[in-house]
Amino acid sequence: MPKKFQSPSGMHDIFGVQFDYFERVREVALRNAKIYGFKGIETPVIENTEVFTRGVGQMTDVVEKEMYTFKTKGGDDVSLRPEGTAPIMRAFIEHNLYTKPQPVKFFYFSPFFRYERPQAGRYRQFWQFGFETIGKNSAIVDVQIILVIYNIFKELGIKDVMVQINNMGEENCRNEFKKVLKKYLKKESSLLCSDCKRRMDKNPLRVFDCKKCIKVKEGAPQIIDYICKSCREEFKQVLEFLEEAEIPYDLNPFLIRGLDYYTGTVYEFFAPQKGNEDPLALGGGGRYDGLSVLLGDEERPATGAAVGVERTVNLMKENGIQINEEKPQVFIAQLGDLAKKKSLKIFEELKNAKIDVAESFGQDSLKSQINRADKLSAAITLIIGKEEAVEDRVILRDMDSGEQEKMKTCEVVKEVKRRIKGK
Ligand code: HAM
Repeated sequence: MPKKFQSPSGMHDIFGVQFDYFERVREVALRNAKIYGFKGIETPVIENTEVFTRGVGQMTDVVEKEMYTFKTKGGDDVSLRPEGTAPIMRAFIEHNLYTKPQPVKFFYFSPFFRYERPQAGRYRQFWQFGFETIGKNSAIVDVQIILVIYNIFKELGIKDVMVQINNMGEENCRNEFKKVLKKYLKKESSLLCSDCKRRMDKNPLRVFDCKKCIKVKEGAPQIIDYICKSCREEFKQVLEFLEEAEIPYDLNPFLIRGLDYYTGTVYEFFAPQKGNEDPLALGGGGRYDGLSVLLGDEERPATGAAVGVERTVNLMKENGIQINEEKPQVFIAQLGDLAKKKSLKIFEELKNAKIDVAESFGQDSLKSQINRADKLSAAITLIIGKEEAVEDRVILRDMDSGEQEKMKTCEVVKEVKRRIKGK
Protein backbone atom coordinates (compact mmCIF):
# COMPACT_ATOMS: atom_id res chain seq x y z
CA MET A 1 0.00 0.00 0.00
CA PRO A 2 1.40 3.43 -0.89
CA LYS A 3 1.97 5.71 2.11
CA LYS A 4 -0.88 8.09 2.95
CA PHE A 5 0.27 11.53 4.02
CA GLN A 6 -1.26 13.70 6.71
CA SER A 7 -0.88 17.42 7.39
CA PRO A 8 2.01 18.14 9.79
CA SER A 9 1.21 17.76 13.50
CA GLY A 10 -0.59 20.82 14.88
CA MET A 11 -1.35 22.16 11.38
CA HIS A 12 -4.68 21.94 9.60
CA ASP A 13 -6.27 22.08 6.19
CA ILE A 14 -8.95 24.73 6.08
CA PHE A 15 -11.83 23.89 3.77
CA GLY A 16 -15.61 23.46 3.64
CA VAL A 17 -17.53 24.95 6.57
CA GLN A 18 -14.29 25.82 8.39
CA PHE A 19 -13.24 27.93 5.40
CA ASP A 20 -16.65 29.65 5.43
CA TYR A 21 -16.17 30.57 9.11
CA PHE A 22 -12.68 31.88 8.38
CA GLU A 23 -14.10 33.96 5.53
CA ARG A 24 -16.77 35.37 7.81
CA VAL A 25 -14.19 36.41 10.42
CA ARG A 26 -11.94 37.88 7.72
CA GLU A 27 -14.81 39.79 6.12
CA VAL A 28 -16.03 41.32 9.40
CA ALA A 29 -12.50 42.15 10.58
CA LEU A 30 -11.51 43.70 7.25
CA ARG A 31 -14.67 45.78 7.00
CA ASN A 32 -14.14 47.16 10.51
CA ALA A 33 -10.46 47.79 9.77
CA LYS A 34 -11.51 49.94 6.82
CA ILE A 35 -14.11 51.84 8.84
CA TYR A 36 -11.44 52.76 11.42
CA GLY A 37 -8.81 53.64 8.80
CA PHE A 38 -6.42 50.65 9.15
CA LYS A 39 -4.59 49.70 5.93
CA GLY A 40 -3.66 46.13 5.07
CA ILE A 41 -0.12 44.76 5.40
CA GLU A 42 1.38 41.33 4.69
CA THR A 43 5.03 40.71 5.60
CA PRO A 44 7.04 37.62 4.54
CA VAL A 45 6.37 34.43 6.53
CA ILE A 46 10.07 34.19 7.33
CA GLU A 47 12.25 36.89 8.86
CA ASN A 48 15.80 37.22 9.98
CA THR A 49 15.77 35.38 13.34
CA GLU A 50 17.15 38.43 15.13
CA VAL A 51 13.92 40.33 14.45
CA PHE A 52 12.36 38.01 17.03
CA THR A 53 15.27 37.33 19.39
CA ARG A 54 15.72 41.09 19.80
CA GLY A 55 12.11 42.18 19.27
CA VAL A 56 10.07 39.56 21.10
CA GLY A 57 12.85 38.67 23.57
CA GLN A 58 15.38 35.86 23.87
CA MET A 59 13.94 34.74 27.20
CA THR A 60 10.32 34.39 26.17
CA ASP A 61 8.73 30.97 25.59
CA VAL A 62 7.88 31.99 22.04
CA VAL A 63 11.53 32.60 21.12
CA GLU A 64 13.23 30.15 23.46
CA LYS A 65 11.05 27.12 22.77
CA GLU A 66 8.57 27.67 19.99
CA MET A 67 10.29 29.11 16.93
CA TYR A 68 10.80 27.23 13.69
CA THR A 69 14.37 28.39 13.07
CA PHE A 70 16.67 27.23 10.31
CA LYS A 71 19.60 28.23 8.12
CA THR A 72 18.90 28.95 4.45
CA LYS A 73 21.09 27.40 1.74
CA GLY A 74 22.84 30.78 1.62
CA GLY A 75 23.62 30.55 5.36
CA ASP A 76 21.13 33.14 6.66
CA ASP A 77 19.51 32.51 10.06
CA VAL A 78 15.78 32.78 9.56
CA SER A 79 12.60 31.87 11.44
CA LEU A 80 8.98 31.31 10.50
CA ARG A 81 7.19 34.28 12.06
CA PRO A 82 5.67 33.36 15.44
CA GLU A 83 3.82 36.70 15.58
CA GLY A 84 3.22 39.81 13.50
CA THR A 85 4.21 42.86 15.53
CA ALA A 86 8.02 42.66 15.31
CA PRO A 87 7.94 42.08 11.49
CA ILE A 88 5.58 45.02 11.04
CA MET A 89 7.85 47.29 13.07
CA ARG A 90 10.78 46.00 10.98
CA ALA A 91 8.84 46.99 7.84
CA PHE A 92 7.90 50.39 9.33
CA ILE A 93 11.58 51.15 9.96
CA GLU A 94 12.84 49.65 6.68
CA HIS A 95 10.44 51.71 4.55
CA ASN A 96 10.95 54.94 6.56
CA LEU A 97 7.25 55.08 7.31
CA TYR A 98 7.92 57.61 10.09
CA THR A 99 8.24 60.16 7.23
CA LYS A 100 4.52 59.62 6.42
CA PRO A 101 1.69 61.33 8.30
CA GLN A 102 1.56 59.72 11.77
CA PRO A 103 0.19 57.48 13.07
CA VAL A 104 0.42 54.70 10.48
CA LYS A 105 -2.34 52.16 11.06
CA PHE A 106 -2.03 48.56 9.89
CA PHE A 107 -4.39 45.59 9.67
CA TYR A 108 -3.42 41.97 8.96
CA PHE A 109 -5.04 38.56 8.67
CA SER A 110 -2.17 36.10 8.40
CA PRO A 111 -0.78 32.70 9.40
CA PHE A 112 1.82 32.37 12.19
CA PHE A 113 3.92 29.47 13.43
CA ARG A 114 4.81 28.30 16.92
CA TYR A 115 6.22 24.90 17.79
CA GLU A 116 3.83 24.35 20.70
CA ARG A 117 2.44 21.11 22.06
CA PRO A 118 -0.71 20.64 19.95
CA GLN A 119 -3.90 20.72 22.02
CA ALA A 120 -7.36 22.26 21.85
CA GLY A 121 -7.01 25.88 20.73
CA ARG A 122 -3.23 25.62 20.36
CA TYR A 123 -1.76 24.89 16.96
CA ARG A 124 1.61 25.02 15.28
CA GLN A 125 0.24 27.00 12.37
CA PHE A 126 -2.55 29.36 13.36
CA TRP A 127 -4.10 32.53 12.02
CA GLN A 128 -4.42 35.90 13.62
CA PHE A 129 -6.07 39.12 12.63
CA GLY A 130 -4.44 42.13 14.16
CA PHE A 131 -4.16 45.91 14.32
CA GLU A 132 -1.07 48.04 14.87
CA THR A 133 -0.96 51.83 15.26
CA ILE A 134 2.58 53.21 15.03
CA GLY A 135 3.72 56.80 15.57
CA LYS A 136 1.33 58.14 18.20
CA ASN A 137 1.42 58.08 21.97
CA SER A 138 -2.09 58.69 23.17
CA ALA A 139 -4.55 56.65 25.22
CA ILE A 140 -7.19 57.11 22.55
CA VAL A 141 -5.26 55.04 19.99
CA ASP A 142 -4.93 52.15 22.47
CA VAL A 143 -8.63 52.28 23.16
CA GLN A 144 -9.50 52.51 19.47
CA ILE A 145 -7.85 49.11 18.94
CA ILE A 146 -9.67 47.59 21.91
CA LEU A 147 -12.91 49.07 20.58
CA VAL A 148 -12.52 47.82 17.02
CA ILE A 149 -11.76 44.27 18.24
CA TYR A 150 -14.62 44.38 20.72
CA ASN A 151 -16.98 45.47 17.91
CA ILE A 152 -15.75 42.64 15.68
CA PHE A 153 -16.54 40.05 18.38
CA LYS A 154 -19.96 41.63 18.82
CA GLU A 155 -20.68 41.57 15.11
CA LEU A 156 -19.60 37.93 14.92
CA GLY A 157 -22.16 37.13 17.61
CA ILE A 158 -19.65 36.32 20.39
CA LYS A 159 -21.20 37.34 23.69
CA ASP A 160 -19.83 38.32 27.09
CA VAL A 161 -16.34 39.27 25.91
CA MET A 162 -14.35 40.71 28.78
CA VAL A 163 -11.13 42.71 28.65
CA GLN A 164 -8.50 42.09 31.34
CA ILE A 165 -6.15 45.01 31.58
CA ASN A 166 -2.99 46.10 33.37
CA ASN A 167 -0.19 48.62 33.03
CA MET A 168 3.39 47.33 32.95
CA GLY A 169 5.03 50.74 33.21
CA GLU A 170 7.84 52.04 31.04
CA GLU A 171 11.43 50.87 31.30
CA ASN A 172 12.34 53.02 34.33
CA CYS A 173 9.34 52.03 36.43
CA ARG A 174 9.83 48.43 35.42
CA ASN A 175 13.51 48.35 36.41
CA GLU A 176 12.55 49.53 39.86
CA PHE A 177 9.83 46.88 40.08
CA LYS A 178 12.15 44.12 38.82
CA LYS A 179 14.50 44.72 41.76
CA VAL A 180 11.64 44.29 44.24
CA LEU A 181 10.31 41.25 42.40
CA LYS A 182 13.73 39.57 42.24
CA LYS A 183 14.07 39.95 46.00
CA TYR A 184 10.69 38.31 46.49
CA LEU A 185 11.47 35.48 44.02
CA LYS A 186 14.79 34.75 45.71
CA LYS A 187 12.91 34.33 48.96
CA GLU A 188 10.43 31.95 47.31
CA SER A 189 12.94 30.25 44.99
CA SER A 190 12.34 26.76 46.39
CA LEU A 191 8.77 26.96 45.00
CA LEU A 192 9.79 28.09 41.50
CA CYS A 193 9.86 25.82 38.43
CA SER A 194 13.21 25.29 36.71
CA ASP A 195 12.39 27.78 33.88
CA CYS A 196 11.47 30.56 36.30
CA LYS A 197 14.54 29.85 38.43
CA ARG A 198 16.74 30.17 35.37
CA ARG A 199 15.02 33.35 34.16
CA MET A 200 14.74 34.93 37.59
CA ASP A 201 17.79 37.17 37.29
CA LYS A 202 17.45 38.40 33.73
CA ASN A 203 13.71 38.32 33.24
CA PRO A 204 11.85 37.91 36.56
CA LEU A 205 8.52 39.15 35.09
CA ARG A 206 8.16 35.87 33.20
CA VAL A 207 7.01 34.24 36.46
CA PHE A 208 3.65 35.98 35.96
CA ASP A 209 3.28 34.18 32.67
CA CYS A 210 4.12 30.73 34.07
CA LYS A 211 1.36 28.16 34.46
CA LYS A 212 3.40 26.19 37.02
CA CYS A 213 4.21 28.99 39.48
CA ILE A 214 0.72 30.23 40.27
CA LYS A 215 1.22 30.06 44.08
CA VAL A 216 4.36 32.24 43.91
CA LYS A 217 2.60 34.66 41.61
CA GLU A 218 -0.35 35.12 43.94
CA GLY A 219 1.80 36.47 46.76
CA ALA A 220 4.05 38.59 44.55
CA PRO A 221 4.29 42.40 44.60
CA GLN A 222 2.19 44.13 41.95
CA ILE A 223 3.67 46.24 39.17
CA ILE A 224 0.83 48.74 39.30
CA ASP A 225 2.16 49.93 42.69
CA TYR A 226 5.50 50.82 41.11
CA ILE A 227 4.56 52.67 37.91
CA CYS A 228 5.41 56.38 37.61
CA LYS A 229 3.01 59.31 37.57
CA SER A 230 2.82 59.61 33.80
CA CYS A 231 2.15 55.86 33.31
CA ARG A 232 -0.51 56.07 36.00
CA GLU A 233 -2.09 59.08 34.26
CA GLU A 234 -2.03 57.32 30.89
CA PHE A 235 -3.61 54.20 32.39
CA LYS A 236 -6.33 56.25 34.06
CA GLN A 237 -7.18 57.80 30.73
CA VAL A 238 -7.36 54.41 29.01
CA LEU A 239 -9.80 53.17 31.67
CA GLU A 240 -11.90 56.32 31.37
CA PHE A 241 -12.12 55.91 27.60
CA LEU A 242 -13.12 52.26 28.04
CA GLU A 243 -15.90 53.29 30.40
CA GLU A 244 -17.04 55.93 27.93
CA ALA A 245 -17.12 53.30 25.17
CA GLU A 246 -18.98 50.91 27.53
CA ILE A 247 -16.42 48.15 27.16
CA PRO A 248 -16.42 45.88 30.23
CA TYR A 249 -12.98 45.35 31.76
CA ASP A 250 -11.32 43.79 34.80
CA LEU A 251 -8.06 45.02 36.30
CA ASN A 252 -5.58 42.14 36.43
CA PRO A 253 -2.40 43.21 38.27
CA PHE A 254 -0.50 40.11 37.11
CA LEU A 255 -1.19 40.42 33.40
CA ILE A 256 2.16 40.96 31.71
CA ARG A 257 1.74 39.13 28.36
CA GLY A 258 4.15 36.57 26.97
CA LEU A 259 6.28 38.83 24.77
CA ASP A 260 8.97 41.19 26.04
CA TYR A 261 8.31 44.25 23.89
CA TYR A 262 5.36 45.57 25.87
CA THR A 263 5.43 48.83 27.82
CA GLY A 264 2.51 50.58 29.54
CA THR A 265 -1.03 49.40 28.95
CA VAL A 266 -1.50 45.69 28.16
CA TYR A 267 -4.72 43.68 27.86
CA GLU A 268 -6.29 40.41 26.81
CA PHE A 269 -9.75 39.52 25.53
CA PHE A 270 -11.53 36.61 27.21
CA ALA A 271 -14.85 34.86 26.55
CA PRO A 272 -16.63 32.14 28.54
CA GLN A 273 -16.32 28.65 27.04
CA LYS A 274 -18.73 25.75 27.51
CA GLY A 275 -17.65 22.98 29.86
CA ASN A 276 -14.64 24.89 31.11
CA GLU A 277 -14.41 27.15 34.13
CA ASP A 278 -11.53 29.10 32.66
CA PRO A 279 -12.48 31.67 30.07
CA LEU A 280 -10.84 31.40 26.66
CA ALA A 281 -8.07 33.87 25.74
CA LEU A 282 -9.14 35.10 22.33
CA GLY A 283 -6.54 37.78 21.79
CA GLY A 284 -4.31 40.35 23.38
CA GLY A 285 -2.03 43.26 22.92
CA GLY A 286 -0.79 46.52 24.32
CA ARG A 287 1.64 49.37 23.95
CA TYR A 288 5.17 48.63 22.73
CA ASP A 289 6.98 51.96 22.56
CA GLY A 290 10.42 50.37 22.92
CA LEU A 291 10.22 47.78 20.13
CA SER A 292 11.63 50.13 17.47
CA VAL A 293 14.67 50.71 19.71
CA LEU A 294 15.20 46.95 20.11
CA LEU A 295 15.22 46.78 16.31
CA GLY A 296 17.86 49.51 16.01
CA ASP A 297 15.77 52.63 15.42
CA GLU A 298 14.71 55.60 17.60
CA GLU A 299 11.75 55.24 19.91
CA ARG A 300 8.48 55.09 17.95
CA PRO A 301 5.37 55.06 20.12
CA ALA A 302 3.19 52.13 19.09
CA THR A 303 0.30 50.00 20.19
CA GLY A 304 -1.58 46.99 18.82
CA ALA A 305 -3.34 43.70 19.41
CA ALA A 306 -4.03 40.41 17.66
CA VAL A 307 -6.81 37.83 17.85
CA GLY A 308 -6.55 34.07 17.24
CA VAL A 309 -8.82 33.17 14.31
CA GLU A 310 -9.11 29.43 15.10
CA ARG A 311 -10.11 30.18 18.69
CA THR A 312 -12.68 32.71 17.47
CA VAL A 313 -14.10 30.23 14.94
CA ASN A 314 -14.18 27.38 17.50
CA LEU A 315 -16.06 29.59 19.92
CA MET A 316 -18.56 30.67 17.24
CA LYS A 317 -19.27 27.02 16.43
CA GLU A 318 -19.49 26.03 20.09
CA ASN A 319 -22.04 28.80 20.67
CA GLY A 320 -24.09 27.68 17.67
CA ILE A 321 -23.43 30.85 15.69
CA GLN A 322 -24.43 30.03 12.12
CA ILE A 323 -23.02 31.70 9.09
CA ASN A 324 -25.47 32.01 6.30
CA GLU A 325 -24.34 31.37 2.80
CA GLU A 326 -24.40 34.49 0.64
CA LYS A 327 -27.91 34.98 -0.64
CA PRO A 328 -27.78 35.29 -4.43
CA GLN A 329 -30.34 37.38 -6.27
CA VAL A 330 -30.53 34.97 -9.18
CA PHE A 331 -29.91 31.24 -9.57
CA ILE A 332 -29.40 29.62 -12.98
CA ALA A 333 -30.67 26.05 -13.49
CA GLN A 334 -30.06 24.18 -16.73
CA LEU A 335 -30.77 20.84 -18.42
CA GLY A 336 -28.66 19.39 -21.23
CA ASP A 337 -25.41 20.35 -22.95
CA LEU A 338 -26.74 23.20 -25.09
CA ALA A 339 -28.51 24.72 -22.07
CA LYS A 340 -25.28 24.47 -20.07
CA LYS A 341 -23.43 26.40 -22.76
CA LYS A 342 -26.10 29.11 -22.84
CA SER A 343 -26.15 29.31 -19.01
CA LEU A 344 -22.44 30.06 -18.95
CA LYS A 345 -23.02 33.10 -21.16
CA ILE A 346 -26.05 34.33 -19.18
CA PHE A 347 -24.09 33.88 -15.94
CA GLU A 348 -21.33 36.16 -17.27
CA GLU A 349 -23.83 38.77 -18.50
CA LEU A 350 -25.60 38.89 -15.11
CA LYS A 351 -22.30 39.09 -13.26
CA ASN A 352 -21.15 41.96 -15.51
CA ALA A 353 -24.43 43.73 -14.74
CA LYS A 354 -23.42 43.49 -11.01
CA ILE A 355 -26.20 41.06 -10.16
CA ASP A 356 -25.41 38.41 -7.49
CA VAL A 357 -25.76 35.16 -9.33
CA ALA A 358 -25.24 31.51 -8.34
CA GLU A 359 -25.27 28.23 -10.23
CA SER A 360 -24.80 24.55 -9.75
CA PHE A 361 -23.49 23.56 -13.18
CA GLY A 362 -22.14 20.31 -11.74
CA GLN A 363 -25.66 19.06 -11.03
CA ASP A 364 -27.68 17.56 -13.88
CA SER A 365 -31.10 17.05 -12.29
CA LEU A 366 -33.36 20.08 -12.63
CA LYS A 367 -35.13 19.21 -9.39
CA SER A 368 -31.98 19.24 -7.30
CA GLN A 369 -30.91 22.53 -8.90
CA ILE A 370 -34.22 24.17 -8.00
CA ASN A 371 -33.93 22.78 -4.47
CA ARG A 372 -30.52 24.37 -4.23
CA ALA A 373 -31.93 27.72 -5.43
CA ASP A 374 -34.58 27.43 -2.73
CA LYS A 375 -32.00 26.64 -0.07
CA LEU A 376 -29.94 29.66 -1.07
CA SER A 377 -33.11 31.81 -0.97
CA ALA A 378 -32.51 33.21 -4.45
CA ALA A 379 -35.21 35.71 -5.44
CA ILE A 380 -35.31 34.53 -9.05
CA THR A 381 -34.40 31.27 -10.77
CA LEU A 382 -33.68 31.19 -14.48
CA ILE A 383 -34.48 27.79 -15.98
CA ILE A 384 -33.05 26.75 -19.32
CA GLY A 385 -34.33 23.34 -20.34
CA LYS A 386 -33.57 21.47 -23.58
CA GLU A 387 -36.49 23.10 -25.38
CA GLU A 388 -35.67 26.63 -24.20
CA ALA A 389 -32.03 26.18 -25.23
CA VAL A 390 -33.10 25.40 -28.80
CA GLU A 391 -35.60 28.28 -28.86
CA ASP A 392 -33.02 30.66 -27.35
CA ARG A 393 -35.40 31.43 -24.51
CA VAL A 394 -35.34 31.31 -20.72
CA ILE A 395 -37.98 30.61 -18.07
CA LEU A 396 -37.90 33.20 -15.32
CA ARG A 397 -39.36 31.94 -12.05
CA ASP A 398 -40.22 34.25 -9.17
CA MET A 399 -39.27 32.13 -6.16
CA ASP A 400 -41.69 33.90 -3.80
CA SER A 401 -44.86 33.61 -5.87
CA GLY A 402 -43.83 30.58 -7.94
CA GLU A 403 -45.01 32.39 -11.09
CA GLN A 404 -43.10 31.64 -14.27
CA GLU A 405 -42.64 33.57 -17.50
CA LYS A 406 -40.81 32.59 -20.67
CA MET A 407 -38.77 35.25 -22.46
CA LYS A 408 -36.07 35.72 -25.09
CA THR A 409 -32.54 35.22 -23.77
CA CYS A 410 -31.51 38.72 -24.89
CA GLU A 411 -34.21 40.24 -22.61
CA VAL A 412 -33.20 38.42 -19.46
CA VAL A 413 -30.70 40.83 -17.89
CA LYS A 414 -33.01 43.80 -18.32
CA GLU A 415 -35.98 41.94 -16.86
CA VAL A 416 -34.00 40.57 -13.90
CA LYS A 417 -32.76 44.08 -13.11
CA ARG A 418 -36.30 45.45 -13.24
CA ARG A 419 -37.61 42.76 -10.92
CA ILE A 420 -34.88 42.80 -8.29
CA LYS A 421 -35.22 46.56 -8.00
CA GLY A 422 -38.66 45.97 -6.52
CA LYS A 423 -37.49 43.20 -4.12
P1 HAM B 1 -0.29 36.60 21.52
O1 HAM B 1 -1.01 36.79 22.81
O2 HAM B 1 0.94 35.79 21.52
O3 HAM B 1 0.03 38.06 20.96
O4 HAM B 1 -1.29 36.00 20.46
C1 HAM B 1 -2.55 36.59 20.24
C2 HAM B 1 -3.61 35.51 20.10
O5 HAM B 1 -3.24 34.57 19.08
C3 HAM B 1 -3.81 34.65 21.33
O6 HAM B 1 -4.67 35.27 22.28
C4 HAM B 1 -4.46 33.40 20.74
O7 HAM B 1 -5.85 33.61 20.52
C5 HAM B 1 -3.77 33.30 19.39
N1 HAM B 1 -2.69 32.30 19.48
C6 HAM B 1 -1.45 32.45 19.96
N2 HAM B 1 -0.76 31.28 19.86
C7 HAM B 1 -1.60 30.38 19.32
C8 HAM B 1 -1.50 28.99 18.96
N3 HAM B 1 -0.38 28.30 19.13
N4 HAM B 1 -2.59 28.38 18.42
C9 HAM B 1 -3.75 29.06 18.23
N5 HAM B 1 -3.89 30.37 18.53
C10 HAM B 1 -2.85 31.03 19.08
C11 HAM B 1 0.71 38.32 19.82
O8 HAM B 1 0.96 37.51 18.98
C12 HAM B 1 1.02 39.80 19.66
N6 HAM B 1 1.77 39.96 18.40
C13 HAM B 1 -0.24 40.64 19.67
C14 HAM B 1 0.04 42.09 19.48
C15 HAM B 1 -0.16 42.81 18.36
N7 HAM B 1 0.59 42.91 20.36
C16 HAM B 1 0.73 44.10 19.84
N8 HAM B 1 0.29 44.07 18.62
